[in-house]
Amino acid sequence: MPDIFTPFTLKGRTLRNRIAVSPMCQYVATDGVPGDWHAVHYAGLARGGAGLVTIEATAVSPEGRITPGCAGLWNDAQADAFAAIARSIADAGAVPGIQIGHAGRKASANRPWEGDDHIAPDDPRGWPTIAPSAVAFGANLPKVPHAMTQDDIVRVRADFVAAARRARDAGFGWLMLHFAHGYLAQNFLSPHSNHRADSYGGSFDNRARFLLETLAAVREVWPEDRPLSARLGVIEYDGRDDQTLDEAIELVRRFRTAGLDFIDVSIGFSTPAAHIPWGPAFLAPVARRVRAEGGLPASTSWYIDRPDQADALIRDDALDLVTLGRPLLENPHWPYAAARTLGRTDAAWTLPAPYAHWLARYRPT
Ligand SMILES: Cc1cc2nc3c(=O)[nH]c(=O)nc-3n(C[C@H](O)[C@H](O)[C@H](O)COP(=O)(O)O)c2cc1C
Repeated sequence: MPDIFTPFTLKGRTLRNRIAVSPMCQYVATDGVPGDWHAVHYAGLARGGAGLVTIEATAVSPEGRITPGCAGLWNDAQADAFAAIARSIADAGAVPGIQIGHAGRKASANRPWEGDDHIAPDDPRGWPTIAPSAVAFGANLPKVPHAMTQDDIVRVRADFVAAARRARDAGFGWLMLHFAHGYLAQNFLSPHSNHRADSYGGSFDNRARFLLETLAAVREVWPEDRPLSARLGVIEYDGRDDQTLDEAIELVRRFRTAGLDFIDVSIGFSTPAAHIPWGPAFLAPVARRVRAEGGLPASTSWYIDRPDQADALIRDDALDLVTLGRPLLENPHWPYAAARTLGRTDAAWTLPAPYAHWLARYRPT
């Protein structure tokens, strides 16, 4: 029976353990190009021992950034900078992954620590946003997006494909499509944001179309031996969760048929009127169900921070990986610390040699 330190093989890639770094925007890129901060940050996470290091939400086009500081993968300068980061992650023994996405109606926002709201209409740092329908998120994000034309849909799909190609050529071994958190793909899936009357709106089949077409187009350029995953918001906590979850599970089954290899279970964040039951590992039972009924290997995050809790989710066959966010910001060496807490000193040997050699015999007093 696997535990969090058991290697995980999917397609042609093997993670040294079941601990994955959840994608986390750093908001400090310049024109979408990652800089010194990113290089040190991601190498540090890999050196800390995680099996998979997934780079933050990386926009497929300038308009798809959440904030002006978000990373991008729409040009070669960005791809070159990311290639160096992918190498440093791989050198430290982790599989380098990247999440690509488009922020839809939540784009053109200020950094979280500068307001986390839409950039004011008269501020030249902002830009026009697009979404399936001209409906704003509301609350701190009141900007009304332009409803996408069919040409826009074709163009954005092509942007995803181009970004996937660049990620492939930059040496990433795992690609995650951002289909969650109230960004563009989730905007299509959710009736909160999709009021279209054409073949991309209305019925579940139509609301799922953009996601399935994008996945299929990306699969054509993403190598068969490298895992392709998606992060999907499967629940909104908006009072109609049974239906949302049933649809999400059906969508995961269709994703599998369309060539998806792995699903990361998350929240929709499609409406400010949600009541989310924050608490330790609160999404894990939902993820377990999506994994069992959707038929794909799965992970989730959200307040999984205790080693015993993370380990139990793998041992109990609820999840294939645990994806950690803030616990790894707090301590990039969480995997090693967890090994010690769980009495698994052997698990430290998968660290890079300059750390592992010294830690093998070291016992803090
Ligand atoms: C600073 C920060 C940035 C984030 N950026 C992203 C992102 O780029 N893509 C994404 O899917 N989720 C993002 N998230 C959500 C995390 O990936 C993760 O799911 C969330 O923090 C819950 O996990 P945790 O409780 O382990 O932190 C971000 C979270 C944080 C704290």
